[in-house]
Amino acid sequence: MKPSSLNTPTSRLEKVAPTGKESYNSLNNPSRTEGVIVKRSEINEIIRSADIFIREHGFHLPPFAYWNAQDWQEKGTEVNEIVENSMGWDITDFGLGDFSKFGLFLFTLRNGNPKNLESGSGKLYAEKIMVVNDGQKTPFHFHWFKMEDIINRGGGKLNLRLYPAAADESLVKTGSINLSVDGCRRSINAGDVVTLIPGESVTLEQHCYHEFWGEGRVLVGEVSLVNDDNRDNRFFQAIGRFPTIEEDEEPIHLLVGDYNKYYQMKGK
Ligand SMILES: [Fe+2]
Repeated sequence: MKPSSLNTPTSRLEKVAPTGKESYNSLNNPSRTEGVIVKRSEINEIIRSADIFIREHGFHLPPFAYWNAQDWQEKGTEVNEIVENSMGWDITDFGLGDFSKFGLFLFTLRNGNPKNLESGSGKLYAEKIMVVNDGQKTPFHFHWFKMEDIINRGGGKLNLRLYPAAADESLVKTGSINLSVDGCRRSINAGDVVTLIPGESVTLEQHCYHEFWGEGRVLVGEVSLVNDDNRDNRFFQAIGRFPTIEEDEEPIHLLVGDYNKYYQMKGK
């Protein structure tokens, strides 16, 4: 999406800074943004382009990726898992209003429910496929609970800059970080960049700030603990996560944020 087509961002996403004493349940919701408007036509175009790129790399999405709004309205309780666990298309410009510079487009292929983390039972894992454009950055953030492998699945190179998070959640700018890159231990200095070529992956532990961007367009995978975008993203700067959408045309496919509008959760 072009900057000119977005209203001036006025994200009011508050930072959440747990003290470490909270239970998983007690964290506030940091991820709903207001005031940043994205046109549906731009989202549709991003989906079309990403879908082509994904297919070009021999990766295939499940059938529900291609349901339209009408399909969704006809679904029943059999698809509750998709809705409850936020599986599907997702887009963010992090409330910054310039998707080409700060943005991420992704599809959540599988995800457990955050409630499973409390019980320790059921599906406890998640997988995403993402498209990271050349120079397009996902800003610094860490996760309190989620440990994740970030995988270069094809295309260009993926760069990640890493810092440990201090107890007060500032960046620790000195010292080193021990990493696992495809099972090989590697030590880097705080603030160094790890570059992944196609096929490589890095394991990011909790409380490790990471920003990443593409060198060329990159197909990126993520395999992780249950993903909870509502409560488990600690962005270094207070920014948004989910855009407000101007409906200038019909959605070709729904985003996870659209489910409430088009699908009435049944059997609840
Ligand atoms: Fe992350």
